[in-house]
Amino acid sequence: MVERHGGRGAFALDGISQRAKGAVKAAWWTAAGGVTRALAQPTRGEAHVRFEPKGPPVSAARLRQAYLAAFDKDAADVAAGLYPPVEDGPRNPAEAFRRALDVIADAKAVDRRRRKGDGVEVRQDPLSEGYPAYYRQNFHYQSGGWFTDASARRYEAQVEALFSGAAGAMRRRALSLLAAHWRGKDQRGLRIVDVACGSGSFLADLAGAFPRAAIGGVDLSRAYLAAARSRSGLGVIQANAEALPFADASLDAVTCVYLFHELPPRVRPVVAAELARVLKPGGVLAFADSVQPADEPDLARLLEAFPAYFHEPYYASYADTDLPALFSQAGLSEAGRDQAFLTKALLLEKPL
Ligand SMILES: C[S@@+](CC[C@H](N)C(=O)[O-])C[C@H]1O[C@@H](n2cnc3c(N)ncnc32)[C@H](O)[C@@H]1O
Repeated sequence: MVERHGGRGAFALDGISQRAKGAVKAAWWTAAGGVTRALAQPTRGEAHVRFEPKGPPVSAARLRQAYLAAFDKDAADVAAGLYPPVEDGPRNPAEAFRRALDVIADAKAVDRRRRKGDGVEVRQDPLSEGYPAYYRQNFHYQSGGWFTDASARRYEAQVEALFSGAAGAMRRRALSLLAAHWRGKDQRGLRIVDVACGSGSFLADLAGAFPRAAIGGVDLSRAYLAAARSRSGLGVIQANAEALPFADASLDAVTCVYLFHELPPRVRPVVAAELARVLKPGGVLAFADSVQPADEPDLARLLEAFPAYFHEPYYASYADTDLPALFSQAGLSEAGRDQAFLTKALLLEKPL
């Protein structure tokens, strides 16, 4: 739990400030996302986009309610002292413009790949050689896949533009579960690793919430690791989540955000077993990923559309995966869950 002088009043003020920051982020990234979509509007007529909606139309009111709930939950957790106010937006207007313009400038290239249905362009890049085939793809049709510095610099802004500024608040559902689980616990000596840390947003959140713990990250992408190192100031190493470079039962917590929907079905149980292996007995996995249709039937059509428009080759199988069963086979049992907008979080415990 956060150490803070000034008692409940100070936490309440922090919560108000977090909600205000969320409102600014929401407005900014909604605008940037709108421009991006206007420049590269996916249309139903595109030959390669095979999407026959099954779920009912998504109501704008329900979508807005789910979206705003993400910011409300984030602010409520700050007000409750679970984690400190988070600076995860651009630091100043100049940076905000630069990041948004970069996403907008790249939108045409993303759209070109989408129109061609080319989600594996990156295989022509020598940088991608030697990595698993499932990894050598342009997920989200993004330029450079996971392999270039430009992609790593752009990623967080792209995600925020996609989710209208709610990405940070959604990820922190996993932080909320972990912080509540450890409330009052002495953090000194705790070891936490963020697996598939990407460009480091969640690592920065972890560092803010657990300033006395030893925290590090792993990812397969050298470029994203460099971005994570500079964003969080934490130690990160290159590793495949299928074979983590940590001893059995050596970590108090592992966190894993937005990885599983990008893994092929045969790899998911391998990674789940690795996450369980490195946890100490009593240790926990704080997991976050896309909501599944069963979690949000009202938004199911949006979830159906996502893999068709954003090159997510393993998303459909992820959507059907029984996650508690997957982790139970790895020896972890569910100890908590939460969700906000398009993200669900699970807390999974390794028995003592
Ligand atoms: C959608 S991004 C999520 C990144 C970050 N956790 C976040 O919340 O923004 C998926 C990340 O998983 C990493 N990744 C994918 N497969 C991996 C694997 N087998 N081992 C390690 N990292 C992997 C990618 O390099 C990328 O950084």
